[in-house]
Amino acid sequence: MRSEEIRKRFLAFFEKRGHTIIPSAPLVPQNDPSVLFNTAGMQPLVPYLLGEPHPAGKRIANIQKCVRTGDLDDIGDNRHFSFFEMMGNWSLGDYFKKEAISWSYEFLTSKEEGLGLNPSQLYVTVFEGDENAPLDMESIEIWKSLGIPENRIYALPADDNWWSPGDNGPCGPCTEMFYDVTGKVGDLTQEQFIEAVKKEDVIEIWNDVFMEYEKKDGKVIGKLAQRNVDTGAGLERITAVMQGKKTAYETDLFEELIQKIQKLSEIKNEKLERIIADHIRTSIFLISDGVIPSSSAQGYILRRLLRRAIRSGHALITNVSGNYNQLVEIVVNKYQVSYPNLKENKNKIILELEKEFDKFINTLELGLKKIKELFGKEEDINTFGLNSAILFDLYQTYGFPLELSIEEINRERSNRGLPVLDEQLRKIYQEQFNKNMAEHQKLSQTSSAGMFKGGLANHNEKTIRLHTAHHLLLAALQQVLGKEVKQRGSNITEERLRIDFSFDRKMTDEEKKQVEDIVNAKIKEGLIVERCEMSKAEAEKLGAEMEFGTKYGDMVSVYLVHNKNSGHFSKEFCGGPHVGNTSELGIFKIQKEEASSQGVRRIKATLG
Ligand code: SER
Repeated sequence: MRSEEIRKRFLAFFEKRGHTIIPSAPLVPQNDPSVLFNTAGMQPLVPYLLGEPHPAGKRIANIQKCVRTGDLDDIGDNRHFSFFEMMGNWSLGDYFKKEAISWSYEFLTSKEEGLGLNPSQLYVTVFEGDENAPLDMESIEIWKSLGIPENRIYALPADDNWWSPGDNGPCGPCTEMFYDVTGKVGDLTQEQFIEAVKKEDVIEIWNDVFMEYEKKDGKVIGKLAQRNVDTGAGLERITAVMQGKKTAYETDLFEELIQKIQKLSEIKNEKLERIIADHIRTSIFLISDGVIPSSSAQGYILRRLLRRAIRSGHALITNVSGNYNQLVEIVVNKYQVSYPNLKENKNKIILELEKEFDKFINTLELGLKKIKELFGKEEDINTFGLNSAILFDLYQTYGFPLELSIEEINRERSNRGLPVLDEQLRKIYQEQFNKNMAEHQKLSQTSSAGMFKGGLANHNEKTIRLHTAHHLLLAALQQVLGKEVKQRGSNITEERLRIDFSFDRKMTDEEKKQVEDIVNAKIKEGLIVERCEMSKAEAEKLGAEMEFGTKYGDMVSVYLVHNKNSGHFSKEFCGGPHVGNTSELGIFKIQKEEASSQGVRRIKATLG
């Protein structure tokens, strides 16, 4: 059964049973700032679960598009997708357990109206009870009356069988349905059942949640005014089961897309192909719902997804750039009946994908150049001199995952007739890389804890942009007023930057205009900003700017703003952080130029 038929049957089944079919809400929640995306079918329906009357009535069915990006690193295996569709039927204070469970069973097993699955391959779980609610006897009895043998009904704790979208909102016990995809599993003890689920011989296909409770700050505080049903059946999972596949990547949902990616690639790599397919599909849906790659909130997630897709494509030597339109074409064709806004936005989607590709590819190429440079040093080649710090830097500065770095390094090595890095060495690098990562996360958690004290998360992005503008401004001042201009102090708030610099007279309007024009020209050129680590002596030799009177350690970090062709427009000793590209800055304007102290001037400037 193809996915189109599954959708059709699901909606028809519930329509016949008094449900109004409603369209999917957009991926970005309309009135709920607590989440970036709809991560479950229930999210857009929260107000109605809490009691507000829904204009379509008390019985609703839909197929809701969802995005979850919490476990991006798992994507590529059989079960993870950043985008998925949830088929659901809803009772908003209308029917409850008996109807919900009976209909789920009927839809799963009916050959005429449903999926025609074999009842003897079904297993179910129910809530075992805790201080919030008792063992769900009612569901057990209903399942038994439908013919599910008692020894295939398992009572599990809240971790498995209590569903809530977060710390606040409607929630309740659930009963989940599982299917033996091998057809050979038979009776299982509870322990064996849990094992079989882990092995993916038995997989979860539907979840009926009985939402009659409410949570506040992580605690169940009591019952809601009405008893609701929220059911969720993942279209991806169900399609895989119906087509006898281990994963949705092998079903009609992905077939054409993956085939195209394979055709465009020179190397076969199942995991990377799946990553590209998943991320491109999600990006297309996000753009069709109005998200644009950027450095904040939803736009940042989209950017990350696209960059991961581009990197994965790069590892396959895929010419993704010229072929985005072909991938978009496939996804739009596949989904346009359910989501007409894909077709309407097709050109915009292609344009945004290409724009982001061009932006990122420059950075990627710098990273590849860096790897080549590392091989310029003979001794490094012979001693596998690429240490984990360099690999980690390639990750941080250029977004190169370890896998990609090693692939590129091996390519260079075999070009030079050297043996490629074997499994053992890869393992050593991996361990060191993980250590660096853990350390880095610890550091950034500490600093973000400080950062968010002020309140707004936005605060950070604005100041980062102003910080990069600050570097451009110093370089521009030196161009216009002379190399002897030195930084004497600085201060950045969310609204503006301030620089104190050595200069002994008021700037003319002409000079101020020149400085502004230079900075804005550099923003427009879209220059790459790069962080390098080097010894203090090396940094001095490079002529990096440092602030008078500041003490630096032996190893320093230097930020370079690369010129378009060669050399650097700006180089400064600096701990960061900065934007990756000057194009992210906006329009630069000097607001004030005044005396600060004897021989020191002060400029305040903004980005608009
Ligand atoms: N809210 C439940 C889930 O996402 C059922 O739809 O699994």
